Amino acid sequence: MTVVAPISVKDVFGRLLQDLRISVTDRCNFRCAYCMPAEIFGERYEFLPRDQILTFEEIERLTRIFAGLGVTKIRVTGGEPLLRRDLPELIRMLSAVEGIEDLSLTTNGYLLPPMAKELREAGLRRVTISLDSLDDETFKRMNGRGFGVDRVLEAIEAAEDAGLGPIKINSVVQRGVNDNFVTDLAKYFKGTDKIVRFIEYMDVGTINGWKLEEVVPSKELAARINAETPIIPIDRNYRSETSSRYAYADDTGEIGFISSVSEPFCDDCTRARLSTDGKLYTCLFTGEGHDLREALRSGATDDEISGLITGVWEQRTDRYSEERTSETAALAGRKPERVEMYHIGG
Ligand code: GTP
Ligand code: 5AD
Ligand code: SF4
Ligand code: SF4
Repeated sequence: MTVVAPISVKDVFGRLLQDLRISVTDRCNFRCAYCMPAEIFGERYEFLPRDQILTFEEIERLTRIFAGLGVTKIRVTGGEPLLRRDLPELIRMLSAVEGIEDLSLTTNGYLLPPMAKELREAGLRRVTISLDSLDDETFKRMNGRGFGVDRVLEAIEAAEDAGLGPIKINSVVQRGVNDNFVTDLAKYFKGTDKIVRFIEYMDVGTINGWKLEEVVPSKELAARINAETPIIPIDRNYRSETSSRYAYADDTGEIGFISSVSEPFCDDCTRARLSTDGKLYTCLFTGEGHDLREALRSGATDDEISGLITGVWEQRTDRYSEERTSETAALAGRKPERVEMYHIGG
């Protein structure tokens, strides 16, 4: 087989297409209020029917096509990706795609312990596990299902045992909800090789009733942590990294802050997103997805699909977080055309 070197595709602002985040299910076993509030996503909520969800073969084919356009990083997300049946099989297929250098997964961890080894063996490199608080009551309230913290800690251990590192812990911070526990979380993982990253609560989607007052700017969090355990900024690992990295001054580990509200990072955004039903999104905050499933299922060739993706990316002008104003953010709840986080996995 001849290996064709990938070409590179740039958007209107010169940003390359380098990362693909693939949502493999719109379902989740949690009901985090900022993503899938239980009042809306009740027993009778209708998630996507099976025939609308991309098959493993379709996802693999698209991944190959994206790799041909310069994508080297794949992140598998959801909803909760471990709910997708036979996920290790998909991981095996994706890890074999030529040109993919990094294959990671974002999960809430609940289903991970018995699956971690199998995922590693299938070719998964690393996992990022969400954990919003170490305080059991707060965590139970936030996940909307009364699930305790222990199982997530078990998942982190299982991921470590399976060799799925470096393990990152994602924590969305909401003022008045879990911000009092931020220093506890940082301290808990200080002295380990786990990297806790505090995420500013974002006005993503239309259903979380986002308010600016609930965002705790990363600067404030960094100052709080620094007061207890001094931290110093360190360089990004790579240009489009979402997280600003800090090291503990006493050399006992790393933490990070993802500051999409207070210090947006659209300038370097190289991320494309594929929804569960096969739509390509060029920004977390867009409403418009470009249907790739239709092309896949109507007999389009790889070249045709590649041309479709290139056309979309070359037109891309998204920089929502940099353009965000209090007005656009306040409109969040009233813009039904905006995609929900659980469709494209953050
Ligand atoms: P690494 O590959 O480990 O650097 O991970 P990552 O930071 O790219 O991915 P991760 O899924 O851990 O992202 C962490 C969080 O950052 C997500 O859950 C989102 O909340 C936020 N995030 C990721 N990408 C974007 C983005 O392009 N725009 C905005 N506004 N937020 C993002
Ligand atoms: N703001 C910030 N992060 C969010 N996530 C989900 N919704 C939001 C939001 N509104 C995060 C989750 C998880 C990742 C998939 O996205 O906590 O870490
Ligand atoms: Fe599920 Fe993640 Fe959304 Fe919480 S944030 S409801 S764990 S997909
Ligand atoms: Fe990228 Fe859109 Fe996030 Fe900006 S707001 S970093 S363009 S996904």
